[in-house]
Amino acid sequence: YVSFIVTLFFSVYMFSLVYLILKYPETRWSWDKEREKIKLPDSFIWGTATASHQVEGGCTNNNWFKWESCKDKGGKPRIKDGQEAGDACNHWNLYKEDIELIKDLGVNHYRFSLEWSKIEPTRGSYSQSALDHYSNVIDELIKSDVVPVLTLHHFTNPIWFDDLGGFEVEDNIEIFESFSEKVFSEFSDRVKIWCTINEPAVYSVMGYFQGVFPPGRKNPQLATEVMKNLLVAHTRVYSKLKALPNGESSRIGLVKNIMQFDPYRRWNLMDWMACRISSSIYNEITLSYLNDGEISVNYPGFVSLKYTDKEAAGKTDFFGLNYYSHVHLKFKINGTDFFENKYLESDTMTDMPYAIYPEGLYRAIKLVETLDKPIIITENGIADDKDDRRELFIERYIYAMGRAIKEGSKVEGYFYWSLMDNFEWAEGYDMKFGLYSVDFKTQKRKLRRGSKAFVDLVKS
Ligand code: BGC
Repeated sequence: YVSFIVTLFFSVYMFSLVYLILKYPETRWSWDKEREKIKLPDSFIWGTATASHQVEGGCTNNNWFKWESCKDKGGKPRIKDGQEAGDACNHWNLYKEDIELIKDLGVNHYRFSLEWSKIEPTRGSYSQSALDHYSNVIDELIKSDVVPVLTLHHFTNPIWFDDLGGFEVEDNIEIFESFSEKVFSEFSDRVKIWCTINEPAVYSVMGYFQGVFPPGRKNPQLATEVMKNLLVAHTRVYSKLKALPNGESSRIGLVKNIMQFDPYRRWNLMDWMACRISSSIYNEITLSYLNDGEISVNYPGFVSLKYTDKEAAGKTDFFGLNYYSHVHLKFKINGTDFFENKYLESDTMTDMPYAIYPEGLYRAIKLVETLDKPIIITENGIADDKDDRRELFIERYIYAMGRAIKEGSKVEGYFYWSLMDNFEWAEGYDMKFGLYSVDFKTQKRKLRRGSKAFVDLVKS
């Protein structure tokens, strides 16, 4: 009897392992071999991206402004070394000069976000001067032959919206819908590509599970509900905007960060379990919601949520793919966490805790193309203060994208994150993602040596 049980257990274990190993290979290419040349269509979208709170300066009416002056229970500042966004890159005032810098890169698109807290400083009342500002930025871009791409929500909420419970409350979605309709009516005559929500999973996991973004909660169930509300907000906004003048001729899409989770020990089923749970919550919920209007997760004692709206299926004109990170998970119970992030000795790390893994972008493209929507890479970039890995990063990630395109993936564009160094959320100003470095005392921008690889690729 005992030997039967042992044999059965062993067989199930081995069968599951073989199944997982074959279904989720950790693709690795040999980079020393000569690589095939990749040709991209002339219509390819090349761009660079920023977000309001990270670059504009003067964002004093949103949840991040409040968060930056908070301390945690142990008295530690929320942002590394107590840094604050403050004047950031003063992009609000220097946008004309910055558009010159965008042109110098040779790109034809610029993705940036509208700061909701500046446009709607109190509920229902809109600031004409803020609307005029964004209108001027749009005109300046068009005058410079750079196509504007707008993001409606990039992590920041007006303080008054958070005071109402923010995206924790499903009923609050309609407040965001009204804001979206207002700005769409103002700008859709000139802006044809719209991103609704930037990274629902990052907003909810960082703010409600890891507690390092506002509001600093650590509750996996709430995190999943907030993510669901953000996805619902996306599809509701999509329908509302489509019904407005210019709606049908505009392209409206969700922006989603895909994170690759691979087991630290490929022979260990517990590591695989940690990866499958993480990927299903972080990545796959979004895909199934956009695919068939279903969200269904059930991990007893951890997270359980079921939501269905068949009408939501297919409501995105493109999939905005952000790609940065690849981690290996090792099973380990620690409070609400059931794994730890590990990196391999062979990994080349960026300054963020992300390994350079271009094959991960290729895998992410293959994953999201199951949706059968055009893909636009809305963010990809490296934090590299020494600027000794940027060139390699750019060449290899763009090669990985090109390889997927060559194999038939419908990737229509690539936006490098970011135009210039900026306020990197909980990390403050320490992370240098910019194609241009910024001296925050003088506001001088300078093209980094490693960024020339991007300029050359775009030009060629
Ligand atoms: C966000 C950006 C951020 C970047 C680099 C993305 O998740 O959209 O705002 O700066 O990652 O960490």
